[in-house]
Amino acid sequence: MSSAMQEMHVDIGLVNTIVARSSLSFIDGEKGILEYVGYDIDSLARHSTFEETAYLLWHQRLPSSSELQSFSSQLQLNYDLSESMWDMVVSLPRDASPMHALRTLTSALALEDPAADDSSPEANMRKSISMLAKIPAFIAGFDRHRKGLDLVRPNQDVSIAENFLYMLNGVKPTERMIRAMDICLILHADHGFNASTFASLVTISTLSDMYSAVTTAIGTLKGPLHGGANQGVMYMLNEIDSIDDVESYVMNKLTNHERVMGFGHRVYKAYDPRATYLKTFAEGIAEDTGNMELFNMSKKIEEIMDREVGAKGIYPNVDFYSATTYYSLGLDLDLFTPLFAMSRVSGWTAHCLEYLEDNRLIRPRCTYVGPHELKYEPISNR
Ligand code: CMC
Repeated sequence: MSSAMQEMHVDIGLVNTIVARSSLSFIDGEKGILEYVGYDIDSLARHSTFEETAYLLWHQRLPSSSELQSFSSQLQLNYDLSESMWDMVVSLPRDASPMHALRTLTSALALEDPAADDSSPEANMRKSISMLAKIPAFIAGFDRHRKGLDLVRPNQDVSIAENFLYMLNGVKPTERMIRAMDICLILHADHGFNASTFASLVTISTLSDMYSAVTTAIGTLKGPLHGGANQGVMYMLNEIDSIDDVESYVMNKLTNHERVMGFGHRVYKAYDPRATYLKTFAEGIAEDTGNMELFNMSKKIEEIMDREVGAKGIYPNVDFYSATTYYSLGLDLDLFTPLFAMSRVSGWTAHCLEYLEDNRLIRPRCTYVGPHELKYEPISNR
């Protein structure tokens, strides 16, 4: 091993390695603080909109009202898919998982973009707008296709949150539903160098293209240790028959050293600030929609986890109460992770745009621990 290699430390899972500088999100895992470009997540969830938050991430400042209006119009003009993309949506197997469908459709956007490999900042911004605007149509369109329902074309006069619910259900959503969806989109928009963002940066750092970077990120988000956890939370809640069974269910999991989905975080060792507001909001929407049993079960799981593992810094993360919120909105379980992607595409693209300003190929090393100098045996002798 060279002396340069010997000086490098091994950091499995990159737990203690800082790989870049970023001005997008600030996380203090000890104090439970999350800010996007300096604005704390609670103020954004209470006062901002998803469109404004995406603008903030892409431009690293809040827009004026005319800038926001023009940005929203640009997004709206991009909501609809080309006829060939709609054809592709309805050509997918009905029993495919929505995350596989979303990854495939996002990747296919490159096929109809003659400038797919143009990596100028303007082209990259245009592609970011296109993906942010079209992903709701992919998710809603695929869901209707698999259920044998007619496709609903987008409403280009409304926000991303409202348009998504409209395309999914074919009816105008209530104000409460629109606000719930918008808040979830704001809370999931960015989160530092999480696994999917990092994966998108690995791809873009090779000077590949934005579609490939986002496709990589969707594949990474899907895993149950990352974005797939919100779905896992709902499976868990469905497995518990009643509130009286919560105690034994959770204790069983902990005794068997199994993970309780929606708890713990690589960075937060305090309450995830995204979960704080979501918990209050989930309670309101659960009450409105007759899902208080679900909310109370979630609260009981939290109490037991706090008692058993709170001292280890394991608290609910963003996925825990987003599961109750999405369920109360009437969304199918396997749409929870696609919704995470629908929001996080703003953060993925923002990080790619930022990283490309001073690009360096991301190419870590590993320590080889295998054998050396083995004698090659012809296959007939093995
Ligand atoms: N349930 C039970 N024990 C847990 C959990 C959990 N959810 N999370 C961590 N622990 C324990 C773990 O068993 C270990 O205990 P010990 O030290 O006794 O072996 C200790 O906490 C440290 O765990 P770790 O796996 O070394 O920590 P990590 O930083 O590698 O893992 C995590 C972070 C998010 C992968 C993990 O907490 C987890 O698997 N959580 C469940 C899945 C989940 O909710 N993921 C969503 C994360 S937030 C949304 C996102 O960013 O994607």
